[in-house]
Amino acid sequence: MGPLQIKDLLQQAPEGQAVTLKGWVRTKRESKNAIFIALNDGSTIHNIQAVAGPEQFAETLIQQVTTGSCLRIEGTLIASMGAGQSVEVQISELEVYGTADPEKYPLQPKRHSLEFLREIAHLRPRTNTFGAILRVRHALAFAVHQYFNEKGFFYLHTPIITASDAEGAGEMFRVTTLDMDKPPRDEQGAINYKEDFFGREANLTVSGQLEGELGALALSKIYTFGPTFRAENSNTTRHLAEFWMIEPEMAFFELADNMDLAEDFVKTVIGYALEHCKDDLDFLQKRQAEEDKSKPQNERSLPLLEKLSFVVDNPFERLTYTEAIEILLKSKPHKEKKFQYPVGWGIDLSSEHERYLVEKHFKKPVILTNYPKEIKSFYMKLDEDGKTVRAMDVLFPGIGEIIGGSQREENYDKLLERVKEIGIDPENVWWYLETRQFGTAPHSGFGLGFERLVLFVTGMANIRDVIPFPRFPKSAEF
Ligand code: 4AD
Ligand code: MG
Repeated sequence: MGPLQIKDLLQQAPEGQAVTLKGWVRTKRESKNAIFIALNDGSTIHNIQAVAGPEQFAETLIQQVTTGSCLRIEGTLIASMGAGQSVEVQISELEVYGTADPEKYPLQPKRHSLEFLREIAHLRPRTNTFGAILRVRHALAFAVHQYFNEKGFFYLHTPIITASDAEGAGEMFRVTTLDMDKPPRDEQGAINYKEDFFGREANLTVSGQLEGELGALALSKIYTFGPTFRAENSNTTRHLAEFWMIEPEMAFFELADNMDLAEDFVKTVIGYALEHCKDDLDFLQKRQAEEDKSKPQNERSLPLLEKLSFVVDNPFERLTYTEAIEILLKSKPHKEKKFQYPVGWGIDLSSEHERYLVEKHFKKPVILTNYPKEIKSFYMKLDEDGKTVRAMDVLFPGIGEIIGGSQREENYDKLLERVKEIGIDPENVWWYLETRQFGTAPHSGFGLGFERLVLFVTGMANIRDVIPFPRFPKSAEF
């Protein structure tokens, strides 16, 4: 089933055994006595060195071996004399699958800016940085499935096309097959969606939660892990128009259980990456240290591995929104009028407030609970005081909100009242409301933004660099 991966070849004892290599050239170096080719197949951050004699192959063939070209090499695995690697391949046969004209191939062996690499997203997976990020991303995704499987959760595939607005935020992408130039109209002149594909307005989902709840109220513990779409026009380093969300939903879980699960879950998946992505994280740590050199001392981050271990090893701070506001009101930046946005009970915390709490005050991840109902979604369970809801947001250093969740309102009358209050047509979510009439149960869940997790674990600065092909305002190439 194909050649052995370079990752595995590098682990073998060099006994002159015959091996096949297939991969892309990172560098070629010619000396008087030999030609050295560093080959990479993406299975690991490390290249394997292949060596040929100076006159072993025709000059025309060797000229085709340039950075970015793709090769098949047959040879023998031997101990390496050179520094930097323990094994190398003595080449006996060389085939060029594909050349990469050095005049045109944009990836040369030097440091390219991340902005430039975003413009060549079709090639950037071949760089060390993106190879490392994509392997870490894979490991985290695998760890997510493993975690839930071991904990008795079922993976529920919720729809991507929906007719409901789960978050009530209204920032959705329309799905339609109507002719945009001549849409059918009703008597009032409004677009007649009855004639559209689904016979109604439809959108790309902003969250799988509502359907997730239907699953939890039957299977007890489910999770979703799928693409999620938000048409918010936010050009930030934390937002994508298409991102992946993991949404566990659990019957018989109250807010405290929900927090315990969220904390254990993120710690476990980060721990998995620490254990299984050592080489890539070492590389990313060095990369971050390089980037930090150009920053003032107080903006530099902890070494990546230290930061990740710290999060895994220490309990998250838990406090209510009300307590957080009190801390902010007593804070130096508030007193010195350094915050851009005002602080007071009822505000939606802005990222400067979240960062103060996490990075300055507590210096560790924080779980904030019991937010005012006005700034949270309609489905959250109302607290006894009638003012706050059983919401929980997990805030991470350098990231801000990484998880948003809550205990859900399981009382039919209270939920219906909230639905009407915020202007959702109950007819539209009749099926959601009905679960509260048939065997309702206390239940809770949360959503983890997968790219925000990958951002944290890789130490990258921009969310556009932790998904293979980012979607953001004015950009959907590749
Ligand atoms: O806080 P949010 O909007 O919560 C929900 O959608 C709930 N239905 C989740 C649930 O309770 N099942 O989004 C959850 C998380 C955020 O904390 C953030 O990490 C991420 O999704 N997120 C985004 N990530 C990238 N780009 C965006 N535009 C994001 N919007 C939210
Ligand atoms: Mg949120």
